[in-house]
Amino acid sequence: MIDNLKSYSVFAEYYQSLINHRDHAGPIARLLKELLLPSHRKLLDAACGQGNRSYFEILPGMSIFASDGSEQMLERLKADKALFSKYEQVAENQWEDLPGFFLKWGKFDAIFFLGNSISHASDLDDIENTFYSCIEGLEGAGRLIIDMRRWHMDDMRGHLIEPGRVEGKRRLLLQETSNGSQVSIFDFCSYDSGRQIIDYFIEKDGEPIASVGFSYLMVSPSVVASMLRKAGFRVVFEGSPDYYPYYVLSGEK
Ligand SMILES: C[S@@+](CC[C@H](N)C(=O)[O-])C[C@H]1O[C@@H](n2cnc3c(N)ncnc32)[C@H](O)[C@@H]1O
Repeated sequence: MIDNLKSYSVFAEYYQSLINHRDHAGPIARLLKELLLPSHRKLLDAACGQGNRSYFEILPGMSIFASDGSEQMLERLKADKALFSKYEQVAENQWEDLPGFFLKWGKFDAIFFLGNSISHASDLDDIENTFYSCIEGLEGAGRLIIDMRRWHMDDMRGHLIEPGRVEGKRRLLLQETSNGSQVSIFDFCSYDSGRQIIDYFIEKDGEPIASVGFSYLMVSPSVVASMLRKAGFRVVFEGSPDYYPYYVLSGEK
């Protein structure tokens, strides 16, 4: 079983390079702007990773708390002092420990897990428990917002897949030069027992220096929507906005 947080501890160093080759942060902030109401002021990014500068440009005046289960991802956010100082709080916290987080910091108007994060859950119970924790951590009429890849049912194979993603083949994603060395990142996609597995291979000047694997639980949106309802949410948004790379669901308490 892949330990995603352990993988992030290694991959944190390369994460920005990977997301920098497309606008990742801007669409996330825009999504929040479109899904939140003016009354939603105290926000929790519960899978903040290395932070998102666009929040403070697109959502001025909000009180934004950030948490993540990876110390190494957070270290990079904290190292950017200008960005770090904009957050109300930045704390290391795993999703299973959200109840304790809410005891400490109070309730929120919105909680979100974006940039393809919730799929890192180990199983459906893990997602369901997270939803139950979130409904307790939200104020009345508060919103939970999550996204996931646009999984598609492949009838021939009888399971979900990510359309357009090359499978079973090592693919060069990017190459960049830093401090006189050339760093290359490759990926390799496979599917196993309802999960998409993405392995990343990192090379420096042609020599392998690291490899990590991530797992993404593939769940159809209708199943996630019914889990939201079971936890007590009213589903207020479902779909893929044209500017956004993932499928989005939002529930209101
Ligand atoms: C794909 S990254 C997205 C980060 C950020 N939202 C972004 O869009 O750049 C997923 C994040 O979820 C965090 N994460 C994964 N599993 C977690 C867990 N069980 N508890 C807390 N954070 C977790 C990882 O550490 C990682 O920072």
